[in-house]
Amino acid sequence: MIQKNEIYEVEIIDNGFMGEGIAKVDGFTIFVKDAIRGERVKIKILKVVSSHAFAKIEEIIEKSPSRVEPDCDIYSMCGGCTLRHMNYFDTLMLKKEAAENTLKKELKRDIIIDEIIGMEDPLYYRNKLEMPFAKGKDGKATIGFFKPRTHEIVETDNCLIHNEKTFSLAKDIVKFVKDKNLSVYNEETGEGLLRHLIIRIGIHTGELMVLFVVNEEKIPHEKELIDYITDLHPEVKVIAKNINDKNTNVILGKRTISIFGTGYIEDTIGKFKFRISPRSFYQVNPVQVEKLYQKAVDLAELTGEETVFDLYCGIGTIGIFASDKVKKLYGIETVDAAIIDARENAKLNGIENAEFFTGDVEYALKDLVEKQKVKADVIFVDPPRRGCDKEALDTIMKIAPEKVVYVSCNPATLARDIGILEEKYHLEKISAVDMFPYTSHVECVTILERK
Ligand SMILES: C[S@@+](CC[C@H](N)C(=O)[O-])C[C@H]1O[C@@H](n2cnc3c(N)ncnc32)[C@H](O)[C@@H]1O
Repeated sequence: MIQKNEIYEVEIIDNGFMGEGIAKVDGFTIFVKDAIRGERVKIKILKVVSSHAFAKIEEIIEKSPSRVEPDCDIYSMCGGCTLRHMNYFDTLMLKKEAAENTLKKELKRDIIIDEIIGMEDPLYYRNKLEMPFAKGKDGKATIGFFKPRTHEIVETDNCLIHNEKTFSLAKDIVKFVKDKNLSVYNEETGEGLLRHLIIRIGIHTGELMVLFVVNEEKIPHEKELIDYITDLHPEVKVIAKNINDKNTNVILGKRTISIFGTGYIEDTIGKFKFRISPRSFYQVNPVQVEKLYQKAVDLAELTGEETVFDLYCGIGTIGIFASDKVKKLYGIETVDAAIIDARENAKLNGIENAEFFTGDVEYALKDLVEKQKVKADVIFVDPPRRGCDKEALDTIMKIAPEKVVYVSCNPATLARDIGILEEKYHLEKISAVDMFPYTSHVECVTILERK
């Protein structure tokens, strides 16, 4: 029986979907952090549960050719990236294979992802910085990343995945917060002000948005804070606060109050312009998103004669990106602010053949087809990580469009949903796009055709 703190020499026989190495000792599975398939390593057991154990590397005896020296000082502590110990190309191969394995397990047959589209320069790609406030070593408010599976904060001066302007603005905000001794929210007592800092940039316009998630409405020195931010960073177009006074892991509360500026920033994807407001979803990798949408539109092979639904449409990006090639576009999204953005975005791009509705796809889609008698030839779906609701999939199958293009950030729920759709649809092709370099996440885009 394997015990905590024991040392073993093992061969890494595979990598799991989070990038972790997998080894066996007497048939017992051990997950080894940062180990790569093919390596021989000495490991120390950290934790044992009934069916498996977790271990860390003590010594690498035979190194994989994929291994590189991580280029980030806090990589071993921070939960942000998980694959910086591998060369970039091999991280792509690992993600492709991990997604294929997940699909194979659910669909009970071999699934080949035809390509994974990587990033030419996979650095500083995130347009959105989202960090918790916490007490730093000096007892004052700071921001950082949580150590995996802890609430311990790792502070850093640099981050290789975040846009540099968002990071430098965050550092300036932390300086103000420390100088004014603003308090940090404490989960146990429910007291303290600052919960999260969210900064977004439109990389093609340079416009910045700052959102403070706070436990109460009043921010001390608010006017000074606004002047300080906008003097140092005149590109800031929006400052807002979101009030979240609930003891919950959900980051955003219900109420968002704009305290400076236009209420939204703008960005472009290809030739299209988009406005983004604080509560709206916007893809975090603005370089890869164009490739993702292009792939989705290419797979749909639109002729200009189709009525198209863009489900889980956010600010309308996929539908608007495809709008040149569609006869009529309908979008559905649950966040009202995003639908307001989507309608404005249609206007901003001179699109007259689009209609957007607020609602949960599960219900709003039925309404659209049953009450308004609208039919779709092609449906794009791009749900959150939990995938589509069964009810939404049933309605899609009732509508029976010729094609369903499924964009997914979670291969596990994609596989489950394809399993359901396969009653009426044939899986034609899956591609992947690396939207989140050096993390274990991967985006898939799939075309399903009616049988
Ligand atoms: C992965 S995002 C995709 C958004 C958009 N397609 C894009 O590329 O920017 C998923 C979107 O689904 C929305 N959403 C989540 N649950 C929903 C539901 N039940 N019905 C409608 N929209 C939902 C979220 O607010 C979010 O905007």
